[in-house]
Formats: sequence, C-alpha cells, structure tokens
Amino acid sequence: MKTIIGLDELRAARLFLKGTVGLVPTMGYLHEGHLSLIRRAKEECDHVVVSIFVNPTQFGANEDLSKYPRDLERDLSLIKPLGVDFVWNPTPEIMYPTGYQTWVEVEAMTRPLEGTMRPTHFKGVTTVVAKLFNAVQPHKAYFGQKDAQQAAVIRQMVRDLNFPIDIVVCPIIREADGLAMSSRNKYLEGDDRKAATVLFRALSAAKSAYGGGERDAEKLRAKMKEVINAEPRAQMQYASCADYDTLEELDVVKGKTLLSMAVLLGKTRLIDNFVLG
Ligand code: PAJ
Repeated sequence: MKTIIGLDELRAARLFLKGTVGLVPTMGYLHEGHLSLIRRAKEECDHVVVSIFVNPTQFGANEDLSKYPRDLERDLSLIKPLGVDFVWNPTPEIMYPTGYQTWVEVEAMTRPLEGTMRPTHFKGVTTVVAKLFNAVQPHKAYFGQKDAQQAAVIRQMVRDLNFPIDIVVCPIIREADGLAMSSRNKYLEGDDRKAATVLFRALSAAKSAYGGGERDAEKLRAKMKEVINAEPRAQMQYASCADYDTLEELDVVKGKTLLSMAVLLGKTRLIDNFVLG
C-alpha cells in the first residue's frame, strides 16, 4: 500500500484506478469508527483511497491544532490489512499554498448546533472536502453519522455544487458501554470516562420516550437535559431535536429526526446523536 503526498503523484495514481473509487476522508489517529468506513468502502467499491490530513482551516482560534493527536505509522499499520489502494497524506502547504483564497461555504445549516460554538469550523470542513473530492474524483465518499451535522452539510454541498459523488453515511461505532468512539476519548480519565456514558444514556432516555409515543420535541430535549444535568461532572452545551436534513429545530417530531447533543466533561467536549424515524 502506497502513501502519497504530492498532488501530481496523486493524480497519476488515480489514473490507474479503473472501476469505482471510494474515498474515506480522515484526520488520522484512526479508531474502529474510521476503520468501519474503510471496510464499508471496500465492500462497495472496486478501489478505496483513504486521506489523512489534519485540516488546519477547520480548527478555531481557541482550538489547539498543534495538540491534535497524530500517529501516521500506527494509522498505516491499521489501514494496511484492509486492502486500501493508497493513502493520501498531503501537507498543509500542498492544500493551502501561499496566497490561497478560495472557500466553500454552506450557509444556514452550518449556523446552529456545532456552528454556535465553532463558527468557522464548517467552512474549513467543506473547503477541504471539496478539495479532496476534486483531487481524488471518487464515485462514493464515506462519512460517519458520529458527526451528524458534518454529514448533513456535506450532503448539502454535494447537491448544491453538483458533485457527481454518492455520500454514504455509516453508523456510529461505540464502545461496549455506549460511548461513541472518538479520538478525543483518550483525554477522558477515571471518573470522567465513566461519566461520559451520560450522552448515550440521555439519548436512550429520549429515544425510549419517543418509542412510548412522545412527539413533542421540547419534551425530548428536556428529557436529554434532565439526564445530563443529573451527572455532576457533565456540562450540557446543547440538546437538539431537529429535522434530519435541514437541522432546523422541531416543535413536533415527524419524519426522520436527529437527536443530538454536545457535552463538556472537564475540558473534553463530546458530541453524540441518535436518528429517529
Ligand atoms: P475525523 O474526525 O478523522 O473523522 C473521519 C470520519 O470518521 C468522519 O466521517 C467521522 O464522522 C467518522 N467517525 C468518527 N468517529 C466515528 C464513529 N465512532 N463511528 C463512525 N464513524 C466515525 O471528520 C473529520 O475527520 C474531518 O472533519 C474530515 C471530514 C476528514 C475533513 O477534514
């Protein structure tokens, strides 16, 4: 399995891939969640390309880009057995050369939820993903439901800009106790790690209320807040019950619905979600 850095080398390697190509964009420090996307791409496509790029433009001024965990050797050893064609690991200078000034921005749906706390985040995500799509020219691209708003924003971008790419959104991979896998989980220690199951418990409580017939979105949001607030180590940032596609908050639940939340545990910010309907 080859690791490619430069754009010319990437384009040359891409020309050799005949049949369907699946792209799995990542920022590295891979876990089972990422690997599940790669396995799904392998099942569905003739060739699979994985990108590993810690994208500086999606980090806010208050978010420490330099502290983002990185371990390329370990990542490559995890990918190798999966039969990927090649890994693209460009440098920041390749993606954003001096004088760079073009951005892709999805508007309304990037403002709520993660957008309130991270106002410049999605502009960085959509820009880099558009650049990855242009460079790799995949037929399908794989994203995790873990980052539900990111997946919705990318689906919107693909529709709006007519990218001829199928966006495949894959289920959240969780630890045995329900905690959604994330590279940030490594910052959780001792009691915070135990308390981190509160997101899964809060989402489960709202889902079971929904299962019992509750359709008042405010009551579902209140249910999630109640469970989070009962955990003294956890600080709720938002609890949302929104339309799955537009991410607009609902009054009454009907159709495909996203329950989502962000919670602080000490200094670690965790997000999680369930889809209803
Ligand atoms: P990263 O955080 O590395 O995640 C890469 C992909 O893995 C994303 O689509 C994410 O939703 C998915 N993923 C993460 N944890 C998961 C889990 N527990 N179960 C299933 N899928 C999971 O998301 C990014 O990188 C970046 O924003 C990127 C899209 C690469 C653009 O820079």
